Amino acid sequence: MSALADRPANPIVGHRAAHESAALHVTGAAMYTDDLAAHTAGVLTAWPVQSTNAHAKVTVDVSGAYEVPGVVRVLTADDVPGVNDAGIKHDEPLFPSESMFYGHALVWVLGETQEAARLGAERVTVEYEPLPSLITVQDAIDAESYQGIARTVQRGDAASALSSAAHVFEGVTEFGGQEHFYLETHASLAIRDSEGQYFVQCSTQHPSETQEIIAHVLGITSSEVTVQSLRMGGAFGGKEMQPHGLAAIAALGAKLTGRPVRLRLNRTQDITMTGKRHPFHISWKVGFDADGMLQGLDAVLTCDGGWSLDLSEPVLGRALCHLDNAYWIPNVHAYGRIAKTNKASNTAFRGFGGPQGVFLIEDILGRVAPALGIDPLELREKNFYQPGHHTPYGQLVKDAPRMGAIWSELRDEADVDARRTEIAEFNARSPHVKRGLALTPIKFGISFNFAAFNQAGALVHVYKDGSVLINHGGTEMGQGLHTKMMQVAATALGLELHQVRLAPTRTDKVPNTSATAASSGTDLNGGAVKNACEQIRGRMADVAGRLLNADARDVVFEGGYVTAFGNAAQRLTFAEVANAAYLQRVQLFAAGYYRTEGLHWNPEIMQGSPFKYFSYGAAATEVEVDEFTGLYSVRRVDIIHDVGDSLSPMLDIGQIEGAYVQGVGWLTLEELRWDDSDGPNRGRLQTQSASTYKLPSFSEMPEQFHVRLFENAREDGAVYGSKAVGEPPFMLAFSAREAIRQAVGEFGPEGHMVELGSPATPEAVFWALRRAQQAADAVAAPEPELLATR
Ligand code: MTE
Ligand code: MOS
Repeated sequence: MSALADRPANPIVGHRAAHESAALHVTGAAMYTDDLAAHTAGVLTAWPVQSTNAHAKVTVDVSGAYEVPGVVRVLTADDVPGVNDAGIKHDEPLFPSESMFYGHALVWVLGETQEAARLGAERVTVEYEPLPSLITVQDAIDAESYQGIARTVQRGDAASALSSAAHVFEGVTEFGGQEHFYLETHASLAIRDSEGQYFVQCSTQHPSETQEIIAHVLGITSSEVTVQSLRMGGAFGGKEMQPHGLAAIAALGAKLTGRPVRLRLNRTQDITMTGKRHPFHISWKVGFDADGMLQGLDAVLTCDGGWSLDLSEPVLGRALCHLDNAYWIPNVHAYGRIAKTNKASNTAFRGFGGPQGVFLIEDILGRVAPALGIDPLELREKNFYQPGHHTPYGQLVKDAPRMGAIWSELRDEADVDARRTEIAEFNARSPHVKRGLALTPIKFGISFNFAAFNQAGALVHVYKDGSVLINHGGTEMGQGLHTKMMQVAATALGLELHQVRLAPTRTDKVPNTSATAASSGTDLNGGAVKNACEQIRGRMADVAGRLLNADARDVVFEGGYVTAFGNAAQRLTFAEVANAAYLQRVQLFAAGYYRTEGLHWNPEIMQGSPFKYFSYGAAATEVEVDEFTGLYSVRRVDIIHDVGDSLSPMLDIGQIEGAYVQGVGWLTLEELRWDDSDGPNRGRLQTQSASTYKLPSFSEMPEQFHVRLFENAREDGAVYGSKAVGEPPFMLAFSAREAIRQAVGEFGPEGHMVELGSPATPEAVFWALRRAQQAADAVAAPEPELLATR
């Protein structure tokens, strides 16, 4: 086990390497899928005809499109040789006969130019036979409209724990979704070659599944389709499942016309057609003992799946497995179900349901702390998991003390106690502007709950001249996976970073890959790359041993040179050994493989040990809230986060900063609104662009932002002792929401419970603040003469 974690003497992992494409990114030279289309001769453009009815039977007449010059073909259900379905759940007709949401793509027009395709699409006529539609989660709950399998996580006896608890609270927690807003919208480019094989370039996190769906739609085998994911301009979970149908449209167009077909959604199409983070409605009851220790939690979680299942079941599963966050709750009964509504199908988004589960317990603790008369910081800390504790789904909380260690280091480093005194003094003399400082923890489980996804492959070539080319099954979306894989290969082969090159991710190089998701890209693919490199290094060590008159076990690969242990004077270059190996007919390439050991999970009863390990972290956020507008600013953020022994500290810090800010966006700014009137636009997304959908930008950055990695944190079960980083720090953003809640509470009386709408936009903050003031007025009931002097 620890062999996986051991680092050689001078490893390339651990260096502050820049992202392998950093220079290309900042100069604009990096190519993305749709840039490749611009270099493809004879390429046709696909354009959708989108429904303008949330739920209706549709009759489509495409004849008008053919009157537009430059329209080559309109793709409809009749053209599908295989299965007319875009999803692995087989509940997503690619060409639907029923519009399931406003914006649903019904047919696609292929044109010589984008202009021709767009004008053609405008000439397609659609007749709607309206059906009743459900827009909000509450609509779906009222109509009992659910889909997929409902699940329960249970431990102990929540009902009796609640009946005997000293303090019991109940409430409803509701929060919105989140648009991915990756900079690069969905894009595919499909080419059919003279042999009838398909090469599809696609901005996808899951090339193997994109390949599978294309094969299903075309009625061919996977071996006839190759999918390449060059790089993505952001994905955040939005390209885990949603690209498949779009890639299949492009491939179908290539089949029918024999010409290359590009499909790139513009921002409005992307935002109206594709799914988002799942919003949730949760009703709950919680009990504490007299000291504020959690005793029991009973909750019903309803997530909004949209019109089809997509990844809603595993997202719900992860929410149920994260509603404990870092806290020991002895008795739990949590029932989760998936609402079916007439909206785009909600999907993976950084954290994959984890943030939604964590939302529940953080909302509860933040809300009830004043009523318990316990400081929220203390309430959180005293309920942390302790050694020997298990999660409600039965997994031992390994490294539980790490949470407390991070927490107290953060408390010290961020000078929390002194600043809380200063803030109290500030608030006492500042009637209209109040400050709050909150700490929140995170514990996040790493591995796919679906065990089969926890495997990966790699293909590594060493050429005669000693140069190295690596391929692996993971995809690059900006997170720096490729850089880390190059660092792993350089470390395993004893090379400098510049001696390793990396080729784009393709299904014909590494088959049957998992989505690059669940933050596990590095653990899985890193394990496979390391395995391939070690096979080659072992064979090269035999060759070098003979050349150096040494035992193969004493051969050292370091810095591009090969020596025998204890004899540094006689050294060969890596290239010399590679060439000698070639001449001796020794295989210089290898397929690597890795699978995570020790996982078990029973989805029926939601029990087992689904995670290889937990990632921990904590954040302290200070905010300032204005009474008259509800506007707030983030004054200072301090984070300590556990990434094991970092493979690439600069990339890891970038991931933590980005995740935190994206989390703050979800919790405080980004608001999706749909028309839920009975008018003609019912079901239309009203926030369709950056002008109406407020994203965090430069002006929302914290004034002070301190991020540090937790030290001496080696994780024995993972590649070179590192831990995953992509998603866990997203949930550090709860500290911002809780800081806002505390600042709002300053406008209310002692013990006032602050209910904060989510997202906590300035408007939501304003109303929470008004409620706090009204509660204060009711308690104070000021005497008339006092009022007069105010
Ligand atoms: N970082 C950037 N820059 N862009 C992204 O799209 N996606 C996040 C995270 N960090 C993302 C990102 C999500 S949702 C996941 S699951 C992980 O990266 C996936 O990559 P990894 O497994 O290599 O960490
Ligand atoms: Mo990330 S939501 O697992 O792609």
